[in-house]
Amino acid sequence: MEMKRKQLGTLTLVAALFAGTCLLSAPAKADTAAGEAMFKAKCAGCHGADAKGKEAMKTRDMSSADVQKQSDAELTAIITGGKGKMPAYKTLSADQVKDLVSYLRSLKK
Ligand code: HEC
Repeated sequence: MEMKRKQLGTLTLVAALFAGTCLLSAPAKADTAAGEAMFKAKCAGCHGADAKGKEAMKTRDMSSADVQKQSDAELTAIITGGKGKMPAYKTLSADQVKDLVSYLRSLKK
């Protein structure tokens, strides 16, 4: 009985250490909610609060296949480098752009 309890304790400790290591080594995940908030604050003027696009700006529905078929790298390049009337957002951090792309991906139908 005493032995079993000790083994269980060791097992719990090993499991806890393992879980801790996994958490620490996992790459930072994009924050979709932060991306959505940023989009509404900075991008909605031209893309619409729901990212469905604005007729007057000739922006496309972000949930459409035409937008979604582009790679993360392509969307990132447009956000940071601009395209046509789309301004370049050079001051956003890589993580912020990742959050924005993650939000756009979440709109995929
Ligand atoms: C001043 C208006 C304006 C603002 C503000 C703006 N955009 Fe744009 N955006 C555009 C226009 C216009 C296009 C279409 C560019 C083209 O294809 O010629 C575009 C295209 C894009 C595309 C490519 C989509 C497609 O149709 O393939 C992405 C992604 C994008 N914008 C993201 C963003 C994000 C994220 C923000 C906010 C950080 C933002 N935009 C802010 C005007 C704007």
